[in-house]
Amino acid sequence: MSADAGAASQSPASGTVTVVDHPLVAHKVTMLRDVGTVSESFRALCTEITLLTAYEALRHLPVESVAVETPITTTRSPRLSGPAPAVVGILRAGLVMIEAILTLIPHARVGHVGLYRDPESHQPVQYYRKLPTDIAERDVLLVDPMLATGGSAVRSLEILREEGCRPPRLLSIIGCPEGIAAVHSAYPEVQITLAALDERLNENAYIVPGLGDAGDRIYGTR
Ligand code: PRP
Ligand code: URA
Repeated sequence: MSADAGAASQSPASGTVTVVDHPLVAHKVTMLRDVGTVSESFRALCTEITLLTAYEALRHLPVESVAVETPITTTRSPRLSGPAPAVVGILRAGLVMIEAILTLIPHARVGHVGLYRDPESHQPVQYYRKLPTDIAERDVLLVDPMLATGGSAVRSLEILREEGCRPPRLLSIIGCPEGIAAVHSAYPEVQITLAALDERLNENAYIVPGLGDAGDRIYGTR
């Protein structure tokens, strides 16, 4: 795996990772990392980074050519085809990313998976799950700002597989090699898009340099 920006690269378990290479994304990630950024700005930055990186994560969406009458003439032009995509967010922090995706695809269906990391074991604990009943027919984008140990993403991908989903794509703001390896050793076919690829996890399973606890910073709970 390399952090080759903008280019899709192969992780050791042979899945694809794309780190979006854009000065605006880089600038906003720097602001997000800053310990002095308050919740209001933090939420806005998460939204803006999601909008910018979704451009890459949703590049594969199928389109069909339809007739459209412009004020000048009639032409054919692409529009999204097939069932509306589903965006699935991992609570809590994924909520802000869901809302951003809905501004881009207002007709998207939404699923929620509630997980928190046990503070001792760092393993995900599930407390909620509500998905569109026909999610297996839809293109699925899983969103969570942080891909740390990968436990939360892997558990969510298990849930989506239980529902019969095709391999979802994963969009996170910050990831690290450990999280990518965990996802790709369980689900090598999952394509991951990140705004930044950080160095490593620390002894508390937080991403270094990272941004701290995303949920707490989004909602001002600590
Ligand atoms: C954070 C984050 C991810 C998870 C990532 O959530 O939003 O869901 O940790 O860590 P992992 O890759 O090691 O599983 P957290 O458990 O803090 O819950 P919260 O969103 O409710 O704050
Ligand atoms: N969850 C977070 O919110 N931040 C990390 O660095 C790791 C897990």
